[in-house]
Amino acid sequence: MTTLTHDPIGAHAPHGHGHGPTGLMRWVTTTNHKDIGTMYLIFSFIMFLSGGVMALTIRTELFQPGLQVVEPEFFNQLTTMHGLVMVFGAIMPAFVGFANWMIPLMIGASDMAFARMNNWSFWLLPPAAILLLGSFFVPGGATAAGWTLYAPLSVQMGMGMDLAIFAIHIMGISSIMGAINIVVTVLNMRAPGMTMMKMPLFCWTWLITAYLLIAVMPVLAGAVTMILTDRHFGTSFFNAAGGGDPVMFQHIFWFFGHPEVYIMILPAFGIVSQIIPTFSRKPLFGYASMVYATSSIAILSFTVWAHHMFTTGMPAVAQLFFMYATMLIAVPTGVKVFNWVATMWRGSLSFESPMLWATGFIFVFTMGGFTGLICAIAPIDIQLQDTYYVVAHFHYVLVAGSLFALFAGAYYWLPKWTGHMPSEFLGKLHFWCSMVFFNITFFPMHFLGLAGMPRRIPDYALQFADFNALATIGAFGFGLSQLIFLVVVVKCVRGGEKAAAQSWEGAEGLEWTVPSPAPHHTFEEAPVFKG
Ligand code: CU
Repeated sequence: MTTLTHDPIGAHAPHGHGHGPTGLMRWVTTTNHKDIGTMYLIFSFIMFLSGGVMALTIRTELFQPGLQVVEPEFFNQLTTMHGLVMVFGAIMPAFVGFANWMIPLMIGASDMAFARMNNWSFWLLPPAAILLLGSFFVPGGATAAGWTLYAPLSVQMGMGMDLAIFAIHIMGISSIMGAINIVVTVLNMRAPGMTMMKMPLFCWTWLITAYLLIAVMPVLAGAVTMILTDRHFGTSFFNAAGGGDPVMFQHIFWFFGHPEVYIMILPAFGIVSQIIPTFSRKPLFGYASMVYATSSIAILSFTVWAHHMFTTGMPAVAQLFFMYATMLIAVPTGVKVFNWVATMWRGSLSFESPMLWATGFIFVFTMGGFTGLICAIAPIDIQLQDTYYVVAHFHYVLVAGSLFALFAGAYYWLPKWTGHMPSEFLGKLHFWCSMVFFNITFFPMHFLGLAGMPRRIPDYALQFADFNALATIGAFGFGLSQLIFLVVVVKCVRGGEKAAAQSWEGAEGLEWTVPSPAPHHTFEEAPVFKG
């Protein structure tokens, strides 16, 4: 087994080259996958904090019934923008950042296949973010149609909606280019001997995710373009009076939206599948079944979209189809969870911060999976539609799932990225604070939903007061805990214990299969792939 030979950022800084752009221009023109990965991660963390501020404003408004911290109209803008910012600005770019950093290293490629397109993929994002966040400042403010942008409301909203549509188009183009890059890199740039079924599972999950992105981002682009033409060019796609159908928007949106859920969770599965074997000191249990389970989830994800639409008046037979199809996805997902547990079974376990986050992920994400199963049951979903139960469910999937896995991966790979070990004490503190406050925030929402509290409202009946106060306290605790992560990263970049070539003791022979050559940095030095 070969050992790692790549250089972390500090050891191979492009400043040392003596030529090529420096300062800001270095970052603007870079084609180095590590630089671009770093920029994706910084961008997504900034968006995570912006979306987090919106979430805390929402929770402040909901602290007590009758409070009027923000106007109801602005409250709706906040819930909409919180969703859009977290999905498109925080979680998706964060996973692309991980892909940029890790996939070339894992498969032994010198860089991503299309290094310049990689630069463009990233640099589309800041203008899109400015458009999206800037919409708060246009007449009428940001769109308040919900992150799902349902027609007919989204057709009637003010110009904030146009900015959101444009931003979604740009972010979609960025995602599609990133996905194409990942597919081509994985298929064409593997080092000799790195066969598909030897690839680290993170590469597999991202390859499958990339196909999902290429399949569904154009569907979203189509949906928002139809809204745009309904708004400005006299079409009636979603206007019943003109022969259209508002429910059709929901069909198109969720044909994108459900696979999108897996776009945000499959790379998380990949990260966790890298970490669990390292800290169990055993190879991953059931590697091939993991690959097939991931593919099954991806294929099935195209057949379940109308489980978001059980209350739109579809025939019972359609409800049954979408109910059973949704429940079927629990089978490959269960395979993955059982494989992680089987990997740990009789392993020589240790719980450094990456492993804490990964095992924490398995526990809380599985709870989100189970409530998803409950929501999938049509007669129950009709009761739970548009209640806080659904809000609780998808935050268990996206926060305890995607976000916790991102933190697990960040703690695991910070030694590779910075050359220094992250603080174990702060990592553990970050984990336990996040875990406790996350559950204080979102667990009560199950009860609120079961009791009938609707989502997307700034005020509520008195009987919901206690759980809402609790959720708000939890949310502020969770938000503040994330500053610990900022401290960890800054400390890690600036110094600390030097990371060994094999950063984590358990990783010997498990984590890396091929060494990665030194990176190229700028346009002048753009790598030419020589077969
Ligand atoms: Cu769904």
